[in-house]
Amino acid sequence: MRLDKFLVEMGFGSRTEVKRLLKKKQVLVNGKIETSAKIQIDENQDEISVNNQVLIYKRFVYYLLNKPKGVISATEDDKHRTVLDLLDENARQKEVFPVGWLDIDTHGLLLLTNNGTLAHAMLSPKKHAAKVYRAKVDGIITEKDVEHFEAGIELKDFTCRPAKLTILEVNEEPQTSLVEITISEGKFHQVKRMVQACGKTVTDLERFSMGPLMLDERLELGTFRRLTKEELE
Ligand code: URA
Repeated sequence: MRLDKFLVEMGFGSRTEVKRLLKKKQVLVNGKIETSAKIQIDENQDEISVNNQVLIYKRFVYYLLNKPKGVISATEDDKHRTVLDLLDENARQKEVFPVGWLDIDTHGLLLLTNNGTLAHAMLSPKKHAAKVYRAKVDGIITEKDVEHFEAGIELKDFTCRPAKLTILEVNEEPQTSLVEITISEGKFHQVKRMVQACGKTVTDLERFSMGPLMLDERLELGTFRRLTKEELE
């Protein structure tokens, strides 16, 4: 790949910033100063260093985003901001994409990566990666609803796998509930439709976890971080 693309991917800023770095003679390719942004390097064979630090190329990157409401889980869109707009230049260069989908009005944990195999595995119905949501509901959720979830709710187009519904709060006045819902599928509007099937409406939906990944409480809405080594493992 081109040297400037490599340096952008490695987090040294935009192409213009990388050009500046090269002009300042801070980049060595196989031990020799390189000032041209255009030269082709082999990211797996050549030794590239910046200020005497050798760079190890990582093909795959993983981002944990606390998605806010109002942005869509896509890589580009004509009308709305996308989750990619919230990440950094490096993520865009690496062509990351969201693993699965959160509705525009859902907030919380979203994993983004450029590792298609991992994304596929996490979304595969066979792997049953559990997703935990917290939902504010208009209406009183009852034990009967808990049983309904456990039995597998029948929607118009498919029958859901048994799911866990935990009642966290019920407020008789003003007739609202707070619940936690664990599902292992990811059909369109699934949580909202399951609650709707019980005759109530989700008014706020947040995803807390996906497989082994948990929403990091220190991660403000709209911010992201890379996965830790432990999370990656
Ligand atoms: N279920 C929904 O209804 N919406 C989401 O965004 C995720 C799960």
